[in-house]
Formats: sequence, structure tokens, C-alpha cells
Amino acid sequence: MSAPDAPLRPPASGTLGGHTAGQLLRLADVVGLGTDDAGVYARTLTEMLGGAAERPLHLPPPNPTFLSDDHTPVEFSLSFTQGEDPTLRMLVEPGCDAPGRAANGRAGLRAVREVARRWGFSTDRLDELEDLFLPPAPEGPLALWCALELLPGGVPKVKVYLNPAASGQNRAPATVAEALRRLGHHRAFDALPPGDRHLFFALDLGDWAEPRVKVYLAHQDLSAGEAGALCRTETGPTPAETEAFFRIAAGHDADDLTSPQVRRPVQSCHAFTETATGRPSGFTLYVPVRDYARHDGEALERAGTLLRHHGQAPDPLLRAVSAVTDRHPEDGVGLVAYLALAHQQGRPPRVTAYVSSEAYHVRPPTGPLPVPAAAR
Ligand code: TRP
Repeated sequence: MSAPDAPLRPPASGTLGGHTAGQLLRLADVVGLGTDDAGVYARTLTEMLGGAAERPLHLPPPNPTFLSDDHTPVEFSLSFTQGEDPTLRMLVEPGCDAPGRAANGRAGLRAVREVARRWGFSTDRLDELEDLFLPPAPEGPLALWCALELLPGGVPKVKVYLNPAASGQNRAPATVAEALRRLGHHRAFDALPPGDRHLFFALDLGDWAEPRVKVYLAHQDLSAGEAGALCRTETGPTPAETEAFFRIAAGHDADDLTSPQVRRPVQSCHAFTETATGRPSGFTLYVPVRDYARHDGEALERAGTLLRHHGQAPDPLLRAVSAVTDRHPEDGVGLVAYLALAHQQGRPPRVTAYVSSEAYHVRPPTGPLPVPAAAR
């Protein structure tokens, strides 16, 4: 990675790097980031993509990636907190063009260390876990992803996502428990709710007031009532609040619908920031809205309802959609990948919408969802 003041040499348009950096610059404008900051972040994105940045878009994705449905190794999100400007974030798979999972993980680690060097923060907590999540022959759907919160001032907050199933899906619980233990969270594992699968283990790195360790669980065929019972924080949302979010994000009748397709699971995330109580201080619920809506018009409507419910204006999200694509929301599904509601102790709740790049493919809208049995 070059020095922060090196001249910016953007990848050509029609390449993966050109396409996603262009989206990032337009999104930066939507959230009011200055052009200097936006330039730094666009260059960081290009550098994290490495050789894949120059890859022409008419070629298939560098490798299949679980990061997004169409295998673009980049996803954006907008996070909304009442009384603040929305924050733009990007999720990247730095090893996306590496030959195989092990090389992917090594490239990911290199990219995180470059970012750490550039902004002068430590990767100690990540280094302590390397053998657990980046073994010589890793398994599972990812090796390492890196997310950056693109804050004004040109210094991002950094998050690293690791794969609990790296040493085998059956070892995932033990891997998560050991990682938590190494970071001093001896009782954290037992504080988690039941779930179907450990999906991600994430670490905040860099300039965070309270860096979090986060554990993500998949919950297959979850009902609104079950969603309401997942939170394990002391002062988090009430079951009714979580249920209300779930019903809006998944569609009011989600409980009654016969699934037209196999739906991705809802995910929960518990965040740990201190080791004294053994309890999590943060809870987030993620609904893969693209599997519960016919098209993105519907997904955006639900996002709007949630945002208004939390005292936010939805227009930055609508402008964000126009910043990433020319297509009409009704003409596809998956542009809005997830809707999430996050509660971190001592902070107001946060609504986040995950916005796909769709560099390679748009999923066509689906037909009408089946009529709930009760309404027939
Ligand atoms: N694409 C993966 C999924 O759908 C991983 C992922 C990307 C994800 N962005 C996310 C998971 C946001 C939860 C929230 O699961």
C-alpha cells in the first residue's frame, strides 16, 4: 500500500476497482464526506482489492465469494443513528483473487496489517487468534473480510471478520469459545443464545472507544417470537421491540408464509466490550430482507418504515441506492441485502441497511409471495 499522500491512480472504469470505487465516491457524497476523505477511502478500497481491482467487469468474478450474492467482493452499508448523519461503511474481501482459501486468508491478513500500519493501530488481538481462524488448510465459506467505517477525518474504524468453521464446522463452537477465552472473555461463550451455526467472529481494531468482540449466529426458520427472545444484554431492546423490527423487516406475515425459496437465516450478533461481567453489551439482529421481499422496492419501503420509526429520514438511503445503480428498485431483488437493528449499551439504537454493489449480476424480482393461509 502506498503512502497516504501518494497520487491517486484510480483503476479504469469497466473494472471491478473502477466500478466499486465509483460507487464509493458517490455514496460518500450522499453521506456528506468531503472529497479528500472520499479519495483516501476509494484508494484504500482499490488497494485492498489488489490485483482484482484491475479486473475487467466483463470477466466473471475473481472467485466465488460468500460476501455477496453475485460474488462482488465488496458490499456497502449505511448506518443510521437518531440525531447523527448516517455513516457509510464498506465490507471487502481483500484475498478475493487468491488461489484458494489459505492464500485468501494470508492476503486478507496482509491487507489488514497494511491498513493498521497506515493508520497506526495494533493488530495484536488479531495476531493472537491467527492459528484458530487461519489454519494451513482452512474450511468454510470465508477466510477473512475487512470492514471499514468511513468516518470524516480520513481515519476509518476497522473491523475484521473471521470464520469460526475454519477448522471444521463441528469445531466452530470450540473455536469461538477458545478465541473468546484468549481475549479474556472467559464467560462470554456461555452467555450466548442458542443458534444453528456460528457464522462469523469479528474484532474491532483501531481507534474505538470500546472495541468489541462479536459473535454471529445463524437462526434458521426463526419466528418473530423467537427473535424477540434472543437478546442477552442487560439493557438491550425488549422482546416486543425486536419482534416489531423483525415483523417490519421480514414482512408482517413472515410467520405465516410458506417459503417460495430457501431463505437465508436471520442472524444475531452479540458484542462483548468488557470482561468483568461476562455479559454482552451489544445485540444486533440481521434480517436478509432480500429473501423476504419480491423486489427492492418492497425492501426499501420496509427500510423506510424502520427508519421513520427510529426518527430518521429515509432519503439518504434512497439516494444511496441511486448512487450505486441506475436500475429501478422494482427491477430486481438483493440490492438491499440485509436490514439490521443494533443496540449497544449507552448508545441510541442504530438501523443499518446493507447495499449490494451488483457489479456482476442482478437477481430478477420474484413473483408474488404466496398468500398466507389465514388470508385465503
Ligand atoms: N453474504 C453473506 C450473507 O448473506 C455475508 C454477509 C454480507 C452478511 N453482508 C452481511 C451477513 C451483513 C450479515 C449481515 O450472509
